[in-house]
Amino acid sequence: MTVRVALVGLGWAARSIWLPRLLEHPGYEVTAAVDPDPVARAEAATALPGVPAFAGAGDLPAGAVDLAVVAVPNHLHGTIGCRLLERGIPVFVEKPVCLSSAEADRLAAAERAGGAVLLAGSAARYRADVRALLALARPLGPVRHLDLAWVRARGVPDAGGWFTQRRLAGGGALVDLGWHLLDAAGPLLGPAPVEHAVGTTSADFVDDGSHRAAWREDESIEDLGPGSDVEDTARGFLVTAGGTSVALRASWASHEPRDSTVLTVEGRAGSLTLRCTFGFSPNREPATLTRTRDGRTEPVPVPVEPVGAEYRRQLDELPALLADPASRGRAATEARATIGVIERIYASARQARAAA
Ligand SMILES: NC(=O)c1ccc[n+]([C@@H]2O[C@H](COP(=O)([O-])OP(=O)(O)OC[C@H]3O[C@@H](n4cnc5c(N)ncnc54)[C@H](O)[C@@H]3O)[C@@H](O)[C@H]2O)c1
Repeated sequence: MTVRVALVGLGWAARSIWLPRLLEHPGYEVTAAVDPDPVARAEAATALPGVPAFAGAGDLPAGAVDLAVVAVPNHLHGTIGCRLLERGIPVFVEKPVCLSSAEADRLAAAERAGGAVLLAGSAARYRADVRALLALARPLGPVRHLDLAWVRARGVPDAGGWFTQRRLAGGGALVDLGWHLLDAAGPLLGPAPVEHAVGTTSADFVDDGSHRAAWREDESIEDLGPGSDVEDTARGFLVTAGGTSVALRASWASHEPRDSTVLTVEGRAGSLTLRCTFGFSPNREPATLTRTRDGRTEPVPVPVEPVGAEYRRQLDELPALLADPASRGRAATEARATIGVIERIYASARQARAAA
């Protein structure tokens, strides 16, 4: 069965990630588009001839779509997701799925009230190299510690726009990149809740236009001035009820030469390190996977795939999740756990700043 999709939000993510992949995927048909911006709607009319484009998600005719893909600014994820779910329209919400634990609870309640499923999950989970890491981590025995870092050399998204305003984005690099890291590492942590979470944040690069993400082709502004109020770097340390620790770092910009993602799993029987680059940056780290045991580090073959292949895999797997009754409630539960950790790192960072 073909899944009839409404694209809600026609910005960078919809245009660059979802639309091209939905159009070439035999399992989907884009049957509606939504954006309050008339320019975005006019562009959609060219890319999607004959497909109706609406100014608001409330205008979507009920029963006309099987799934709404919500790719709007972060602060609208919860509101728009809830409204669609309450109307019985299944929803896939981009990351960060929500910006507070209360919003996660509202999404869960809307899912129950409307009887339609909420789907989510960051694309990082669908990367072949991340899946290889997760599979190889199992025989390492109990996981003692994770090091999760996504550190860009230059990659502040839409600098000067909504991404760098807390009111609209909910935060900076932590909600943006940290969400992917926590989501991808979820299976390694298991169901044990996070007992302790501390962290710090800093903003040394965010107002310097030369550190913007060049691949987004957002409007070029070199000197942004002090317009932002979010972090470009967040560091956190977590301990789960099961005794596993996690060191987390998310940076939109840094003094590093490359945009890199490094995931290390330390288990009783050895450790694994995956180095790669999540996302679309052209300034990439070649993917490598190594295993260390008894004083020896050896390379492990790692699947290499084209940039963005994880989004196609995510689309391949969404229809089964959409049809599976066990998907009900899962995305909201996972989002609640992720945003709970993020809220606590921000609270700890605020406390540290106030004390300083
Ligand atoms: N999965 C990923 O790897 C990935 C990558 C990039 C962005 N994202 C996420 O996608 C979302 C959108 O990011 P973006 O880069 O496309 O932002 P963007 O600013 O380029 O696009 C947002 C679009 O939403 C539209 N919009 C605003 N209010 C709306 C409403 N009420 N209804 C419908 N549309 C509305 C805007 O007009 C704009 O066209 C963000 O939450 C971001 O975190 C995810």
